[in-house]
Amino acid sequence: MSDALLITGAGQLLTLRGRGARRGKALSALGIIRDGALLIRDGLIVAVGTTKHIEALRESRGAEKLDLAGRVVLPGFVDSHTHLVHAASRAEEYELKIRGASYEEIARKGGGILNSVRKLRAATAEALEARALGALEQFAACGTTTIEAKSGYGLDVASELKILSLHRRLAARQPIEVCSTFLGAHVVPAEYRGETDGAERYIRLLTETLIPEVAHGGLAEFCDVFCDRGAFTREQTRRILSTGMEFGLAPRLHAEQLSHTGATQLAVSLGAASCDHLEQVNRADIAALGKSKTVATLLPGCDFHLGLKKYAPARALIEADAIVALATDYNPGTSPTVSMAMILSLACSQLRMTPAEAICAATINGAYALRREREIGSLEAGKLADLAVFEVADYREIPYYFGMNVCAMTLKRGRVIYAAD
Ligand code: NIG
Ligand code: FE
Repeated sequence: MSDALLITGAGQLLTLRGRGARRGKALSALGIIRDGALLIRDGLIVAVGTTKHIEALRESRGAEKLDLAGRVVLPGFVDSHTHLVHAASRAEEYELKIRGASYEEIARKGGGILNSVRKLRAATAEALEARALGALEQFAACGTTTIEAKSGYGLDVASELKILSLHRRLAARQPIEVCSTFLGAHVVPAEYRGETDGAERYIRLLTETLIPEVAHGGLAEFCDVFCDRGAFTREQTRRILSTGMEFGLAPRLHAEQLSHTGATQLAVSLGAASCDHLEQVNRADIAALGKSKTVATLLPGCDFHLGLKKYAPARALIEADAIVALATDYNPGTSPTVSMAMILSLACSQLRMTPAEAICAATINGAYALRREREIGSLEAGKLADLAVFEVADYREIPYYFGMNVCAMTLKRGRVIYAAD
């Protein structure tokens, strides 16, 4: 008996076929097959084409069948920037912000990231796991099949290792792939503030103790730094990321979110996997990204949630040939959403990306940002059978219906991990 799955009748099957990351005009090429079908075996895609063609294949005989009755199929979303593990919401700060306090004012008074650090340190590993599992179920329900997850709400040795170990446990306990990033350099923790050399002492803890431990334990693939006003300077960022690289952790950065620091140029010069946010980039930064392999990851959920008017210059980045990706930045302070479809809606209405560009940015370019473009991000023979089915007749309706979940089914490695009732 065959263990193959034959999916037929996709009104539009968005293959996103083609090699590697997408830039410029290639960002619009969805490789759509009408009345599309896929043959899957052992979690991998064996063949992609029209229903007529794939049904006629000898390998399709005896396969279990799933007919999609005209629904739209695309590669599962690859959410390349999340802060998955945190203890609680910051709804109280949300209200303060609505009443006029800025994100940075709240942070200066000990709220913001430090608020989440206090909550995380007080939480049990079981409570953190339960919350993260709940979020992962929601990611699956929204069509996401791979996420990146950052530490960064622990900021001491035990708490950071607790988060990173949880990433590993979560990866083993549920189907969504979790790529782990060490973000010990989120901000300088409270106990190191108030002394002139506090930041320096904390950076030494990161470079001399934490990065070596994380690397030796195989607890992360990437090292990230929040390079911004109120967090880490460009020179501090360079030191931390360089140490990470010596230990085999690939760099990625939070860059030019609240102020311009030069983090983008640093990212490009280090060959970082991505630099994320980019609301404050200048023309030279845009040009540098256009010539580099560092992905420009845009996180419009932050500006939306914080009520900020200045979004990242997506059009200029696309025109300059930068590799643009989109991600949720799921976190309790600036972007409490797991919905990539909502991010697509914001990318279209606020960043003026077309639905096709936004879908490429949320799949194949997200995969490239996580250095997984050979395995995921498009629907092609040999890749993982990670896909999302939407209850729409046209892919443009995915961003069009904003704030609604039109995901009908999600498959990870050929297995149904979510089905709407
Ligand atoms: O990506 N900018 C830094 N880190 C997060 C926010 C973290 C928080 O406020 O808890 C971000 O926006
Ligand atoms: Fe972030």
